[in-house]
Amino acid sequence: MDYLEFFNLKEDPFGLTPDSYYFYPSKMHNDVLASLDYAVEQKEGFSLIIGEPGTGKTTILKIFIDRWKEKAEIALIMTPRLSSEELLQAILDDLNIHMETTNKNEMIKTFRDFLIARSLADKRVIIIVDEAQNLSDGSLEELRLLSNLETDKEKLLQIILIGQPELQRRLHSEGLRQLDQRISIRATLKSLTAVETSDYISFRLIKAGKGSAIFDEKAKKLIHTLSGGIPRLINLTASRAMMVAYIGSSHQILKRHVLDTVKHIPETQRKSSFRYRTLRYAAAAIALICIVLVSFVGYKALQHTNKSPQAPAHSNTQNVITQTASANVQRMATVTVRTARVREWPSLQAGIASIVSKGDSFEIIAEWTASGGNKWYKVRIPDVGEYWIASYIVSVGSH
Ligand SMILES: Nc1ncnc2c1ncn2[C@@H]1O[C@H](COP(=O)(O)OP(=O)(O)OP(=O)(O)O)[C@@H](O)[C@H]1O
Ligand SMILES: [Mg+2]
Repeated sequence: MDYLEFFNLKEDPFGLTPDSYYFYPSKMHNDVLASLDYAVEQKEGFSLIIGEPGTGKTTILKIFIDRWKEKAEIALIMTPRLSSEELLQAILDDLNIHMETTNKNEMIKTFRDFLIARSLADKRVIIIVDEAQNLSDGSLEELRLLSNLETDKEKLLQIILIGQPELQRRLHSEGLRQLDQRISIRATLKSLTAVETSDYISFRLIKAGKGSAIFDEKAKKLIHTLSGGIPRLINLTASRAMMVAYIGSSHQILKRHVLDTVKHIPETQRKSSFRYRTLRYAAAAIALICIVLVSFVGYKALQHTNKSPQAPAHSNTQNVITQTASANVQRMATVTVRTARVREWPSLQAGIASIVSKGDSFEIIAEWTASGGNKWYKVRIPDVGEYWIASYIVSVGSH
């Protein structure tokens, strides 16, 4: 008797390919779909959907296309590692616009005629690019130029970009700012909560024929912990737990069956094993304690500086945040590289607070030398806040 027969299921409930039939309408997935519907209904131009791998981006696309395929002409680009010319050609092919010419101006003119004809017939034209983080800057620029095709009254084309978080970061870079400014609808797919994960597992089992498999609540909770609520990792863990239960002739999937899967799932496929989680929490706690200590020492140093006007502007002590601005001299950090990341605290591991460009100049309000010798400046960025930039990507002068 095989696995599916044993559990009396008609098919595998936790397959890894995106499948509309198994779509679990979590609030977040529904919200993202609603924002896409709105973007197309209102002819908003550019939309951006961001999500970590496995959060359901392609699944949502399938649902969206099913909804719109009768009312719109849709070009779906799934393999965007194309040159800008190839991308344009792929879009035209997908929309069934065939032409003899390879002259770009003529291609664009024919495309515009096509868009106007569809607009008169009240049909939307939508270009969707999945895995859009793989588009080259040139292809992203080509899409921006296409989005210029509009009448006096409305946009003729809706473009939906779907990709992983690095796409969002790229769009913030200098060269792509123009495109970034045109994006009117933005949505992010996050992971499922513990309650949703439990629901999701039951939902997919019912869809696969219900059968006799029963996931214990503790097992579901552990699946949520291990997968971090990412649907692809939930599927992977749940299906392996069922396999372990099957091997042990159990219709009930218990916590110990899930625990057994940890041995079989490579670390890279786990969102968070216990060890990983514990390490992460420990690292976060240590970082927090360091920040508090450093701030306290820095604050004391600052008090000391304020009390004695003769004290040096900044201490030589390592690992101490020092105040750098004096009453008369304002020190400025000027960015020396094309684009630079400004971080939430003085570490390359810290979150990116903003991206700044070559020549931008900011007031230095503190500095920090890490035990490895790397120096960081805390700078004041107007309208953004006070964040950290590495010393090796700025030049320092006084004002
Ligand atoms: N809302 C959902 N309902 C049911 N299954 C889902 C849902 N979201 C994701 N999944 C399942 O999770 C798996 C991964 O989904 P999908 O391929 O859509 O993710 P993705 O975000 O496109 O990932 P990638 O970035 O790797 O392309 C698939 O098996 C899919 O069926
Ligand atoms: Mg995908």
